[in-house]
Amino acid sequence: MALRPIRLLGDPVLRTPALPVTTFDKELRTLVKDLTDTMLEAPGVGLAAPQLGVGLRVFTYDVDEQLGHLINPVLHFPSDEEQDGDEGCLSLPGLTFDCRRKQHVVAHGQNEYGDPVTIEGSALMARCVQHEADHLDGVLFIDRLDPETKKAALAAIREAAWANEPAPVVKASPHPLFGRTR
Ligand code: NI
Repeated sequence: MALRPIRLLGDPVLRTPALPVTTFDKELRTLVKDLTDTMLEAPGVGLAAPQLGVGLRVFTYDVDEQLGHLINPVLHFPSDEEQDGDEGCLSLPGLTFDCRRKQHVVAHGQNEYGDPVTIEGSALMARCVQHEADHLDGVLFIDRLDPETKKAALAAIREAAWANEPAPVVKASPHPLFGRTR
């Protein structure tokens, strides 16, 4: 089991659109495994690769006893029906806010071997798929809140202990970067 640290709001990787997966190799399957393990340990109902600092279009989910993953998702909404409900994110720990989402979703994509797969879901499953697919576009659920709720969310974020910690130093390279180490 391999757990990786979950990146928090403020980390630029969460705001960077992720790239499509083109190589379905062992490294990708390790990523899916690490996403799954880290999600289950957190615990959370979904986790997207950018939350582990990996800019690829991959997410995992664990909703209503359904554990799985989806790669290169493309979402469709079979109806205009919407749902309201509390939503949270492992990258904004401890905070939940009412977020409007579509009630039903159909997501086409691939599995870790590159085979085409389709996920159909309603209610929490639909919410999870929309939330995780947003992560792949650098979008967070706080971007989806109505203006009043968003104001409250931003105030709560300012108060959150994790938002006031210095950003963790991620050692990206053993070599000096532009003449200085970081
Ligand atoms: Ni999230």
